[in-house]
Amino acid sequence: MNDPRKGSDAEPTTHFGYQSVPESQKADKVAEVFHSVAAKYDLMNDLMSAGVHRLWKRFTIELSGVRTGNRVLDIAGGTGDLTRQFSRLVGPTGEVVLADINASMLKVGRDKLLDSGVANNVQFVQADAEKLPFPDNHFDCVTIAFGLRNVTHKDQAIRSMLRVLKPGGRLLILEFSKPTSNLLSKAYDAYSFSLLPLMGKLITNDSESYRYLAESIRMHPDQETLKAMMVEAGFERATYHNMTGGIVALHRGIKP
Ligand SMILES: C[S@@+](CC[C@H](N)C(=O)[O-])C[C@H]1O[C@@H](n2cnc3c(N)ncnc32)[C@H](O)[C@@H]1O
Repeated sequence: MNDPRKGSDAEPTTHFGYQSVPESQKADKVAEVFHSVAAKYDLMNDLMSAGVHRLWKRFTIELSGVRTGNRVLDIAGGTGDLTRQFSRLVGPTGEVVLADINASMLKVGRDKLLDSGVANNVQFVQADAEKLPFPDNHFDCVTIAFGLRNVTHKDQAIRSMLRVLKPGGRLLILEFSKPTSNLLSKAYDAYSFSLLPLMGKLITNDSESYRYLAESIRMHPDQETLKAMMVEAGFERATYHNMTGGIVALHRGIKP
């Protein structure tokens, strides 16, 4: 017989790749992935995308409109690719915060930026995108690159990013999205579910994390859904640009 209390007491679930997991477990599972891949993260990015992730990131910097003296938050900033460019753009009178929930990714990012000598105007903060520990109306620009997909409550994170932006400030979300052609979609699926885990196995000895990557991309909201989520949170002039046939999209919205 069905226990009528079971449904109402059960913890809500969410997806971790194609698995359904209790919401409270997702962050730990995501943490395991990034602890495991942190040391080889940059190398894998270059190999998996044949270097094209650098172009996606360059376009993000161009669209950010960041200028000398600005205050920028790069949340889920990981190994700091965007932060490094922002650090140069804002100059000594500006400030960049590289924030990430994962201590291993933050450490790799911090070491890399210190080694390249651009970290004078950069702060490193361990933080969850859903509960940003910064004042209201604080940043001129917030970016989240390949991070939102991993967040348990994406709507909460988008609202949190809106809160910390100054009026007129920009949010840029760079993320995998939905290919615009069926043919590309098929080729991309074949690549993601066979070659990607194999590369993960060979380079990081961890095929599961790269299987999660492929699955989490398929579970992420498509271009129009993400745009609607930004509007729902309160962003104005929400738009997106597809790159590489929609494999990646850059969404941008302005805080009113
Ligand atoms: C794929 S990496 C992207 C790193 C970097 N932004 C880039 O584009 O190369 C995703 C990052 O999101 C971070 N992350 C996952 N969930 C997060 C959360 N709830 N809050 C903040 N960062 C999170 C991970 O720790 C990881 O460093």
